[in-house]
Amino acid sequence: MNILVTGGAGFIGSNFVRMVLQEQPECLVVNLDKLTYAGNLENLEGFLDHPRHVFVKGDICDGQLVCELLDRYKIEAIINFAAESHVDRSIIGPKVFIETNVSGTLTLLMAAKDKGIKRFNQISTDEVYGSLGPEGKFTEKTPLAPNSPYSASKASADMLVAAFGHTFGLPYNITRCSNNYGPYQFPEKLIPLMINNAINDRPLPVYGDGLHVRDWIYVDDHCRAIWLVLTKAPPGEVYNIGGNTERPNIEIVRKILQHLGKPESLIRYVNDRPGHDRRYAIDATKIRTQLGWRPKVDLDQGLAITIDWYLRHRQWLEHVVSGQYQQYYQAIYGNR
Ligand code: NAD
Ligand code: DAU
Repeated sequence: MNILVTGGAGFIGSNFVRMVLQEQPECLVVNLDKLTYAGNLENLEGFLDHPRHVFVKGDICDGQLVCELLDRYKIEAIINFAAESHVDRSIIGPKVFIETNVSGTLTLLMAAKDKGIKRFNQISTDEVYGSLGPEGKFTEKTPLAPNSPYSASKASADMLVAAFGHTFGLPYNITRCSNNYGPYQFPEKLIPLMINNAINDRPLPVYGDGLHVRDWIYVDDHCRAIWLVLTKAPPGEVYNIGGNTERPNIEIVRKILQHLGKPESLIRYVNDRPGHDRRYAIDATKIRTQLGWRPKVDLDQGLAITIDWYLRHRQWLEHVVSGQYQQYYQAIYGNR
């Protein structure tokens, strides 16, 4: 199968491409990525020149380029990871979220429809469902109620994808996953940011009371779920993906400090994120029962692998936190 992966130089996309190249000998992967601050060729170490991998630097908003790639490589399926993915950035600069996450997805959909693509997989997020109280979980039937500019842009994209299925018969799936962690995650997200700060004995900024709850999933488990959906799911279906591992943020931060042998005095409670969703929890019964998926890596195991990876990839960390990252850090954390 020939697939177009967008955003394959980012965190989840690069882990997905690596897994596909290793495990699917019949698969050609065309990887279209704009290489924003979050996209990094170093994430493709070990397979950039793989014979079944073609890397193309480009924008998903460029319809002509997308159509050319679909033709030239006889693409059968598109897996759309490309996005602006960080909630805090969407609060200080929402426009690019609409450009990439909404207009970019629309561009891909129009190309997919015109070229008769057999499957369009939209990589979405549990954040489209909004926030939960202390009880309950998101199912695929939970109404969309996004709260941040990021999640609103992802919900808009989901609706466009479903509309292309309904109106034009485009065969699609949407997956909505909870919080991923693992190697190659940019240190703006909770786990890699806390690891990086702890390694460097810098304060660990915990938003609000630290009791906001996320459901954590190791990135490989998410990638395996996406492959299953691509190859086994009937078209037109939405699947929730989650690790069944709900934890308050402060517990995650404490685990990281403990693992690294660093003191809890590094923890700093700082002003909360505006509009901060209190709790996410995923009911993944559908993908478990219909497709037989299960997460394989538990939180302690996954955190140990992840922390060890960051300790062994100091150079990668140093590269990604140089330059613009410093300005970003100042903008988000400077006055908190
Ligand atoms: P990321 O920010 O690490 O990577 C995004 C990638 O998209 C980068 O390589 C970037 O260069 C690329 N990109 C951005 N704009 C582009 C454009 N206009 N054209 C082409 N490429 C572009 O993100 P991630 O954490 O790997 O997330 C990947 C996808 O999974 C996103 O769609 C996100 O919404 C979704 N998701 C993420 C999580 C999570 O916990 N990280 C959970 C659920 C869903
Ligand atoms: O749920 C899936 C979503 O998970 C994905 O769609 C997003 O792309 C991804 O960024 C993530 O969103 P969150 O906002 O949940 O992730 P983040 O790592 O930014 O924050 C996780 C929690 O930690 C959240 O409650 C905010 C808190 N936090 C985060 C940072 C960066 C802190 O307390 N301090 C911090 O410095």
